[in-house]
Amino acid sequence: MCGIFGYVGQKDAVPILLKGLSRLEYRGYDSAGIAVLDNSAHLIVRKKKGKVKELAASLNQHRNAPHGTIGLGHTRWATHGAPNDSNAHPHLDCSEKIAVIHNGIIENYVELKEALKAEGHQFRSNTDSEVLAHLVEKFYKKTGTVKEALKLAVAKARGSYAVGVIHEDEPGRITATRVDSPLVVGVGKHENFIASDVSAILEHTREAVAIENGEIVVLDGDSYQLSGANGRVVKRAPRHVQWNVEEAEKQGYAHFMLKEIFEQPGIIEGLIQKRLCKTGMRFEELKIKKSRLAQVKNVHIVACGTSYHAGLVGKYILETLTPLTVSVDNSSEFRYRDPKVDRSSLVILISQSGETADTLAALREAKKRGAVVLAIVNVLGSTIEREADGVIYTYAGPEIAVASTKAYTAQLAALYSLAFHLGLEVFPPKNPKRKAELFDLLAEFKKIPGAMSEFLAEYRIDRANWDANCAEYNRRYHKSLERYFKTAPAKRKRAPNAFFMYLGRNINYPSALEGALKLKEIAYISAEGYAAGEMKHGPIALIDENPWVVCIAVDSPTYEKMISNIEEIKARSGLITAIVTKGNEAVKKLGLYLYIEVPKTSELFSPLVIALPLQLIAYHVAKEFKEEIDQPRNLAKSVTVE
Ligand code: F6R
Repeated sequence: MCGIFGYVGQKDAVPILLKGLSRLEYRGYDSAGIAVLDNSAHLIVRKKKGKVKELAASLNQHRNAPHGTIGLGHTRWATHGAPNDSNAHPHLDCSEKIAVIHNGIIENYVELKEALKAEGHQFRSNTDSEVLAHLVEKFYKKTGTVKEALKLAVAKARGSYAVGVIHEDEPGRITATRVDSPLVVGVGKHENFIASDVSAILEHTREAVAIENGEIVVLDGDSYQLSGANGRVVKRAPRHVQWNVEEAEKQGYAHFMLKEIFEQPGIIEGLIQKRLCKTGMRFEELKIKKSRLAQVKNVHIVACGTSYHAGLVGKYILETLTPLTVSVDNSSEFRYRDPKVDRSSLVILISQSGETADTLAALREAKKRGAVVLAIVNVLGSTIEREADGVIYTYAGPEIAVASTKAYTAQLAALYSLAFHLGLEVFPPKNPKRKAELFDLLAEFKKIPGAMSEFLAEYRIDRANWDANCAEYNRRYHKSLERYFKTAPAKRKRAPNAFFMYLGRNINYPSALEGALKLKEIAYISAEGYAAGEMKHGPIALIDENPWVVCIAVDSPTYEKMISNIEEIKARSGLITAIVTKGNEAVKKLGLYLYIEVPKTSELFSPLVIALPLQLIAYHVAKEFKEEIDQPRNLAKSVTVE
């Protein structure tokens, strides 16, 4: 969904822009570009299809990096116009004195473009964004300042945007604004920044100002001036960002994804320690009063992708630990189905980025209907956090790999904590036995980070086997492909199907969905998660010796039913990997392809531990197939378009 970055100060802008962009690449990486006002205040643009490192290599190779102390940068996730050099940002106006970067979508760009063309403007790209450059050009002629021109330009545009502008005639100044796409200002010493996300500015400053919808900011090296949509000056001091730059580095791991997988026990431990109190779980940041929560009769969880899967697990958690009933929706569907949400509803939005457009729209819909709205977010200061009535932070630190891992388990931990808070403090059980049961579960929750660490410690020792098993799977698959192609076309039967099936039951049905999503995202192999009981209702038709079937068969009340499913798959030559509880010798006698042992926990907390092998299966398969693990094709981390 594109990353934007801008620098104004006293240093050479290009290396700073390139580094900032590489931190924002999780938002999109099909092309990248920079615009710099050089030391004679001439605007110079360099842009290129491909990743930021390709742009950097080309600047190096051609020795044509511009030198100046102010510039803009952009890394793109294509919406309008193919990923190529000319559609890459920054875009210029006709005079080539104004450069614009844009994240979002200008929905009415076709009509704007036609009108601008009729006025004589020359377009060079197929993007929606370029209209902004020409609109600023047009209005600058009337108003004489970029700020006023940008204000008039965005007033013509419909859609979502974060925009940054520099102009040869206003050297030393960046002007920027946003509506529904994120934008922060980083405040440094004799240097200031704009960025889509704080992770891009951390090595320069940890003081950040979030820009609100409709506000315009003008910054030079020494100051920033904010004004509201009504033109009034807005005074907003920077907030200190808790994240640090080390958290945004790989720290010796081969991939960010692996590093983030390993961070999980520490994050969950930290979250529990932060919130645990004598009476259960407390949140400093929640903001919603206990008396308001006590009026809640029903809960609706709304989220997308991995966060949605966390929400599905959350339904089981909340329904187990509290007296409330819970529904879960994809954000992109929620507002189309007339949800029965009113003052008696608690709507929980889950979002790592806090910027997902559909989740934001769902939040607004829920507020309109009078619900109390709680956001579970990772990125502090994000739009979803700001618009919700209350917030629970997941404190997972910057998640750089596009495929979410640590944010997911941190979301689960937030949901367990919330459920304990509601179950023990907001709706305290009348029955002392039930209360004692909840405290026993809370005591077990505290031990879960230990179980996660134990699993990862054993994985470290066993790592070579994970690679070997994936290589063996690859070999088997390619052998069956070879057999297929060696067969005369007329005699060929079905082509072998590289397919992963993930089966789970009860609270681990969503774990199965999440396991499949991780694999699809980074290994590009078809994968589906099913409730194991559904297998016989269709998916079993897919089973032969090719698909890799991952069965979540940890100790639980449904364990025996899962074993029956395993037998059914085995009877059809399925290649089974069973995730089992450590010490389960019986399942080992079944002679399956692979066993992954996880420490024993009660079923309620098992999704936290099971997430680890599921993430690692995806990681190792993607590695075996030599895919780009941290930046999978076509994806972007923050989906700010609907
Ligand atoms: C999957 C993944 C996505 C996000 C989804 C929601 O690995 O990262 O499915 O979970 O785009 O994003 P947030 O949580 O930022 O709202």
